Amino acid sequence: MKKIKPDQAHNSLPLLPPDYSFNSEHINKQLIKTHKALAELKGYARNLPNMSILLNLILLQEAKDSSEIENIITSHDDLYKAISIKNYKAPPQIKEVLNYRQALYTGYEMIKDKQMITNNMIIKIQEIIENNSAGFRKLPGTVLKRANADEIMFTPPDNEEDIIRLMKNYEAFLNDDTEEIDPLIKLAIQHYQFEAIHPFYDGNGRTGRIINMLYLVLKGILNEPFLYLSSFIIKNKSEYYRLLRNVTYNNEWEDWILFILAGIEETALNTLNISYKIIDSIEKSIDMMKVNYPKIYSRELVELLYSNMYTKISDLVNNGIASRNIASQYLKQLEPRLLTSEKVGREVLFVNKEIRKLLSTNLK
Ligand SMILES: Nc1ncnc2c1ncn2[C@@H]1O[C@H](COP(=O)(O)OP(=O)(O)O)[C@@H](O)[C@H]1O
Ligand SMILES: [Mg+2]
Repeated sequence: MKKIKPDQAHNSLPLLPPDYSFNSEHINKQLIKTHKALAELKGYARNLPNMSILLNLILLQEAKDSSEIENIITSHDDLYKAISIKNYKAPPQIKEVLNYRQALYTGYEMIKDKQMITNNMIIKIQEIIENNSAGFRKLPGTVLKRANADEIMFTPPDNEEDIIRLMKNYEAFLNDDTEEIDPLIKLAIQHYQFEAIHPFYDGNGRTGRIINMLYLVLKGILNEPFLYLSSFIIKNKSEYYRLLRNVTYNNEWEDWILFILAGIEETALNTLNISYKIIDSIEKSIDMMKVNYPKIYSRELVELLYSNMYTKISDLVNNGIASRNIASQYLKQLEPRLLTSEKVGREVLFVNKEIRKLLSTNLK
């Protein structure tokens, strides 16, 4: 292998598939565990009547965490308020997280429709994240530096033709089913390759992590992008960076593949665990309301109260649950057992205390 230096543009980045045998005992063992965890998650999600509630919460968490890897730090409180209140003066980072979520949803719709992931879709996803339509890089100068330092860690290809050539090969690899490589191994391979090509001026990390979710759906491993893999990457960020470099400089694929596989397994199990807790909390609230507030109770109301951390009177009206006056009485009566009210500007928001507790104890 020709040695490259971090400050040299890697225009000769090898094409996919890598020249490497992925058939190792370690990888095979971990593959079985990861597939098992994902199958459990897929099966669980299939039978869920409240899937959209869970997907909403999980996707927002994934958006928050994936952005946090790029030092875009937000709080649940601000995020959910920004969703609930039109003119909420949220910190600018909130917009980025919401863009990310939008990009993930749009990507999901696109692959359901087309059953493939194309470069045009990837460009669209990055455009939504960054709110900028620059497309693939045309100018050199993009380098990856160590956080808070000037040291160059990696210089991706800087030649427009090479980027296009590599991205065409990448696109073919993503959509090719004839390769004899397990789709989860392919997921890890394509993620490395995408980050190493680094086709955009910015947003490569976030776009790449959205592609990961979409890839699981494309391959039928999950039915929805229902996983928050980014939490694992936050916890192991320096390892994530070290292993990416180790592929580039030492062709060390095995540790990278094992890292991604173990990460998917861990997050699939965490996603299941938090899903159980949310569903359990919904069921408990249903029982509590049936006993204590039989006149107010309806399944639609409980589901509405769980579909966002904050509920407004107008949400009940808009969902056809009650007229304005009645809606206000309903929400007030549910205080303080399930809800607590908070005035933000001219809006009164009713916080679902159970969701707030679940998010703050189970998700950072
Ligand atoms: N040595 C490396 N080789 C390849 N990719 C890397 C390396 N170090 C970091 N990355 C990837 O680059 C991403 C950051 O790229 P960037 O375009 O700034 O994305 P974003 O704007 O989403 O932060 C990281 O999240 C990681 O996925
Ligand atoms: Mg960035």
